[in-house]
Amino acid sequence: MTEQGYTQFALLLKNEHGLDLSLYKETQIKRRLLSYMSRHSIADFKGLVHYIASADKRNHLVDYLDINVSEFFRNPELFAYLEQQVFPRLTAKQKSLSIWSAGCSIGAEPYSLAIALAETRVTLRRGIWATDLDAGALHQAAQGLYSLADVRNVSSVRRERYFEQENGNLRVKPELKAMVEFARHDLLRDHVAQGFDLIVCRNVAIYFTEDAKLTMLERFTHSLLPGGVLFVGATESYPYHRNFGLRRIHSCFFAKVGD
Ligand SMILES: C[S@@+](CC[C@H](N)C(=O)[O-])C[C@H]1O[C@@H](n2cnc3c(N)ncnc32)[C@H](O)[C@@H]1O
Repeated sequence: MTEQGYTQFALLLKNEHGLDLSLYKETQIKRRLLSYMSRHSIADFKGLVHYIASADKRNHLVDYLDINVSEFFRNPELFAYLEQQVFPRLTAKQKSLSIWSAGCSIGAEPYSLAIALAETRVTLRRGIWATDLDAGALHQAAQGLYSLADVRNVSSVRRERYFEQENGNLRVKPELKAMVEFARHDLLRDHVAQGFDLIVCRNVAIYFTEDAKLTMLERFTHSLLPGGVLFVGATESYPYHRNFGLRRIHSCFFAKVGD
């Protein structure tokens, strides 16, 4: 594996796919790439660049890097905490909420939030702002079509209520779709809106460099209202959260101080 080959490959992925590998931990990304190359008998990065000439192959590789993996109600116990503790806490201050699902991938996360809101009768000030930098994932999100594996954490009652059957898959109903606004957005670079009560950013920063994580936390603190809550992934820890004016209220939940 030559450094030059990797640099060229990274540049192609950035230009063609909008994915900037320099923001991710290089050792982890390289490990995944090498295993992908060995599976597909690709000798070097030059060969990999050639192999992923088509958009289909590029999407497949990005999937393999695990960057897009998602499912409905990922870590159900944390969604239960969100419904039972966080929503009441937030609605005690604001009647209706403003929510950002940052790094929403194929849409399973913002649709899960929409279901949780509908079930708890919490209303929105505007549609859930669901963003990702991967256009392919956003396309799937907008289609709202999921396999049974994607919805394995959704109860049969909720499946019946919020999905329609379609050739062995499930499509989210229009009422749920209407609650979510998808947009392409790089959370580390693009303009960030303000005034959110809840930011959900889960399993996005797992590959970020420490610098990128700091940028991300700074941006989220700026975007949250005082008392607003940040919901992160189950394996993420931010020991320096206090430097950003955040207070831990539960294992994966931080509140912005100042409420
Ligand atoms: C593993 S998925 C997580 C999806 C969902 N949040 C969940 O927990 O199930 C990570 C997503 O973060 C997106 N992502 C990575 N870097 C990003 C960035 N800088 N800005 C926006 N999205 C990003 C990827 O495209 C991918 O769809």
